Amino acid sequence: MPGQCVIGLQWGDEAKGKLVDLLTDGKDLVVRYQGGANAGHTVVIGDDVYKLHHIPSGIINEGVLNLITPGVVINPPTILKEINSLAERGIDVSTRMKISQRAHVVMPWHVLEDKMWNELVSGEDNIGTTLRGIGPCYADKIGRSFAIRIGDLIQPDFPERVRKIVAVKKKVLSAASGADETALDAEAIITEYQAYAQQLEPMITDTNRILLDAVDENKDILFEGAQGSLLDIDHGTFPFVTSSNSSGVGISTGSGVPGNWIEKVIGVTKSYATRVGGGPFPTEQDNEKGQHIRDMGNEYGTTTGRPRRCGWFDAVAARYTARLGGATSVALTMLDVLSELESIDVCVAYEIDGERIEHFPANVNDLRNLTPVYESLPGWQVDVTGARSLDDLPLNAVRYARKIETLIGRPIEFISVGPDRAQTIRISQDESLEEYLNAKAV
Ligand code: IMP
Repeated sequence: MPGQCVIGLQWGDEAKGKLVDLLTDGKDLVVRYQGGANAGHTVVIGDDVYKLHHIPSGIINEGVLNLITPGVVINPPTILKEINSLAERGIDVSTRMKISQRAHVVMPWHVLEDKMWNELVSGEDNIGTTLRGIGPCYADKIGRSFAIRIGDLIQPDFPERVRKIVAVKKKVLSAASGADETALDAEAIITEYQAYAQQLEPMITDTNRILLDAVDENKDILFEGAQGSLLDIDHGTFPFVTSSNSSGVGISTGSGVPGNWIEKVIGVTKSYATRVGGGPFPTEQDNEKGQHIRDMGNEYGTTTGRPRRCGWFDAVAARYTARLGGATSVALTMLDVLSELESIDVCVAYEIDGERIEHFPANVNDLRNLTPVYESLPGWQVDVTGARSLDDLPLNAVRYARKIETLIGRPIEFISVGPDRAQTIRISQDESLEEYLNAKAV
């Protein structure tokens, strides 16, 4: 059975980790193909909570091989910390995970650069990155001459490479900061990173070979997107994006698997919208409604702990990203968070200069200046966290889901009503929301 993929349709944090964990059963491989330690994926199984940044969410399932492919940028101390903390909980990552030798390394200078570039840009132009060195690492990857890949850490010329790069980085960083020196010490970095390499070496391999063999052998592969489609470097709300292709278009470039092999794409969206960091957010509710959503959804970043900006569901944006990523179905998450509201707004279109538009604008100024057009739907005011089937949901909650499905133009396959694996309603192909509501109307 060809490949399946889970991608975020918004600005990240859509609860993709839960979906990946749910879908991992029966898969041969789970693949992380872009992003780095900026991601934060939470998997909850009963009382066990796993917070993962680097490691694919399939790691909890025995018998699944997890791959980190060339499109990912890796921070060695962070990934080792994660490996060790999983080991303490009885999960031997070294037997369940392989890392591509082609994946790039986030080096200490990238973190310094991220911090510095962030400080040099103020006000509404500030991207508000996670400060994990992601952008500078991808910039060096594209620039090529000063990049280091995981496979390079175990090459004999690694020390010389670091010395050359550090000499250049020191000049750049000193010039930008106005300081005479930077904290970079080439010899200390060489020793530290060679020690990391030794620990990671058993996992470093050519994942392209593994994946292309798996394709030939028709194995079940699940691809796990990080961040969300609106943060995609090419197709998102540029420049307020991350530095990788975090929409569906990144699956092939990041993993090395041909695009025509991806058969099923599940687009994950919250029942409302959130965003962390700077940038336009048309449906943001910087008011008590937004605060209510933040409180109910515990909307604070898994990676940075920052409060997330909260707002209403934006169907224009979600329809755009579902089409962009070729979503074949949708997972609607965090429906329980809206349970106390009397009414819920949904953005169905935008207005720019008095003109109604239904497409997602490419320009950041248009996104800042537009006015959302809302439709208001009645709430349900019943706790839905115990719902396990459509019959357990109040009709208004099903109507809300159906409205979103219609606006996105893709069938909803999952409704999530809480963080646990069990708090999920799966809608089979012969049980559409439309038919369900029609039957109830009779
Ligand atoms: P960077 O990826 O650290 O460069 O940050 C760029 C933008 O993407 C910032 O607005 C971050 O808050 C956002 N971002 C990066 N990773 C995530 C994520 O996993 N979830 C939500 N937002 C993210």
